[in-house]
Amino acid sequence: MGDTLTPEIRAEALARGYSRRQFGRIAGVLSMSSAFARFVSAAHASGPSEAVRISEPVRIGANECWTGPFPETQESALAAFAHGNRYEPSNLRATLIATVAEQERIPVEYVRPWQGSMDPLMRAIVTFCAPQRGLVTVDPTFEAAWRTAQWLGVRQSRVPLLPHNDYATDVRALLKADPNAGLYYVCTPNNPTGTITSLEDIVWLADNKPKDAVILVDEAYIHFSRAESAISLVTHRKDIVVLRTFSKLFGMAGLRLGLSFAHPDLHRRMLRYDGEAASQLINVVALATGNASLRLHTQIEQRRSELIANREYTLGQLKRRNIYYLPGSEANMIMVDWGKNAASLQKAIAGQGVEIGRSWPIWPNRSRVTIGSRRDMERFIQAIDVVTG
Ligand SMILES: Cc1ncc(COP(=O)(O)O)c(C=O)c1O
Repeated sequence: MGDTLTPEIRAEALARGYSRRQFGRIAGVLSMSSAFARFVSAAHASGPSEAVRISEPVRIGANECWTGPFPETQESALAAFAHGNRYEPSNLRATLIATVAEQERIPVEYVRPWQGSMDPLMRAIVTFCAPQRGLVTVDPTFEAAWRTAQWLGVRQSRVPLLPHNDYATDVRALLKADPNAGLYYVCTPNNPTGTITSLEDIVWLADNKPKDAVILVDEAYIHFSRAESAISLVTHRKDIVVLRTFSKLFGMAGLRLGLSFAHPDLHRRMLRYDGEAASQLINVVALATGNASLRLHTQIEQRRSELIANREYTLGQLKRRNIYYLPGSEANMIMVDWGKNAASLQKAIAGQGVEIGRSWPIWPNRSRVTIGSRRDMERFIQAIDVVTG
């Protein structure tokens, strides 16, 4: 598979310390074929086995939105579908870039669409890390970053999230963990804790890390929160890449649409492996749905408010039952601390038809629970009462 890398890319990877044996793995990440399936299935493997599935499980395990794309987008999606014989029926990709650029007050050259945000996430690790230029993250966080680094043989440093600062990222500890890393990954709101890293802290990290290191700010869940985005930083810096996705609040996980924001030089480095193809070939139905979604400011605000209300309801119910949860989530997920093995609780709750999320090795007693509809969360609480009652 390494044969698919051009001689220039091979030479450049060797110069950065990758070995010839790693070419196949680099190509695997970039082709998003077998490697993608492997990472995604592992990262999203939060539900119980088929054996315990009942007819209509409540799916609050994979941080998906409880509902689909905004109904107001259907007309645009159907029009794109009807013209699906065209590679570019009506300039949908350029329209998306222009709309996003206008909304985020950033030049169009700084915006790139993708089929979801997993590809640019994995690609950023190939591009900015190397065997001697490691990856630094908090722990727990979204494991796709870890798995990609592991696959490539890139050194990793993981900084535990701690209660003394409310499970927020300690950027000073991040830098101390590896002062010469290639990439610092900051997921904000963080998956699985939903906690925020402030813009001020991201700026501190950017100002103090090695000049040629890059910060990858993963804002997959930011639409659920009112936190300040790091997009404002990318126009005057050459060392920050921000990722966004339509998979969460916009309810488009299966449609696949994501965005990256970065200085054109950083995008060029990420895209040079396949001549920009990964950002050019985007499904037109996803583009049309994304375009139409971005205009729905009122509906976006309503969905965010609904999520917050459902999260508050769930936390209130847990509190009444003296079940501990981690504070500070600003996303569609919470970490519930059972005080005992989370994997068995996950299985028992699945037996009640409710699929909650996984635990992380660092916190074996805590489960990630996605916040779904009010009905989903009522079913979750009912399941807890049966299992712990
Ligand atoms: C933090 C984070 N980043 C990126 C992704 C990838 O999402 P997608 O490829 O659907 O945009 C996910 C998916 O759950 C995620 O949790």
